[in-house]
Amino acid sequence: MQLVDDVVAGKDEIAQWRRTLHADPELLFDVHNTAAFVTEKLKSFGCDEVVTGIGRTGVVGIIHGRPGGNGPAIGLRADMDALPIEETTGLAWASRTPGKMHACGHDGHTAMLLGAARHLAATRNFTGSVAVIFQPAEEGGGGGREMVNDGMMERFGITKVFGMHNLPGLPVGQFAIRKGPIMAATDIFDIKITGRGGHAAMPYQTIDPIVASSAIVSSLQSIASRNANPLESVVVSVTKFNGGSAYNIIPETVDLAGTVRTLSPAMRDLAEQKITEIATSIATAHGAKAEINYDRNYPVTFNHADETDFAADVAATLAGEEGVERNQPPTMGGEDFSFMLEARPGAFIFMGNGDTANLHHPAYDFNDEAIPVGVSYWVKLAERALAA
Ligand code: NI
Repeated sequence: MQLVDDVVAGKDEIAQWRRTLHADPELLFDVHNTAAFVTEKLKSFGCDEVVTGIGRTGVVGIIHGRPGGNGPAIGLRADMDALPIEETTGLAWASRTPGKMHACGHDGHTAMLLGAARHLAATRNFTGSVAVIFQPAEEGGGGGREMVNDGMMERFGITKVFGMHNLPGLPVGQFAIRKGPIMAATDIFDIKITGRGGHAAMPYQTIDPIVASSAIVSSLQSIASRNANPLESVVVSVTKFNGGSAYNIIPETVDLAGTVRTLSPAMRDLAEQKITEIATSIATAHGAKAEINYDRNYPVTFNHADETDFAADVAATLAGEEGVERNQPPTMGGEDFSFMLEARPGAFIFMGNGDTANLHHPAYDFNDEAIPVGVSYWVKLAERALAA
């Protein structure tokens, strides 16, 4: 591995930051302690600007390159939030807050980007500027969207953005990326079926919303099997089916809910259209009524071609070409770095976390051995993107 020397020398200290953050997990936009920790560190490194409160609790640090060197700013992004999971690792640095834990490694992402900011501020071996972006609410709150909507790209003149996530199962020191869609759009839907309640012994006097809802759930399975091109990806999962209260009562209403995962705008449009049509027409056929609320949540995380090649080339300077998978299959998970990639060209890469528990598992821990790899990636990416 061709790592950055002083990053390797500083890895224990960066691991300490990571463990400090790990012990104090915070959810969604409520990342006040984490943002304060990040802000204090960025100021101590001598960043030229440290701006808090972007996208509610996001933090951006600006590091200018060589004096007189004028160039664009690139954005490097980490996420700060944790998950509502009870940690079971038993580690010395385990969560001190019951019911919350850093089970996705955002503690590691934040610590690594801080490590890169320290190196870049101390050496400034580039032209233009680096924006280190620390976002809240990746796990469902859309913190990335909030920062974009807050005008972050324009305010700091950011022309390209790069993101990174650790990946359990991929060996430490290896990377994986792909051009185009790398993570799915994650939409949610609610369907309320209203029939006419009554006595279960006299169903002909009622409109049974349970029977209508059952038919709807069955028919929704045909979106993937009958409507979608088999070479495209779509997941439609009904995850809630709530109705009824007694053995002898047909209820008035049933509430359904679920998620839709797609990798292209066309499939996303198709899924929304078919869910609406199926629920409405089947409810009507049963004499019931369907109210559908389809909510477009995170868009597809779409890697731009040139920036993906660039990111993979940078990773290969560290890991060698054999350590970089350039055609990683996409996952149907979601990622709100997608909003930043809609606003600016860029690329999102996976970095190996080794043989650990999976993301969002109560026994997961970010692998500190990956710290010098991730920090070196950020440093080399910035210096190469902004080379004189
Ligand atoms: Ni994550």
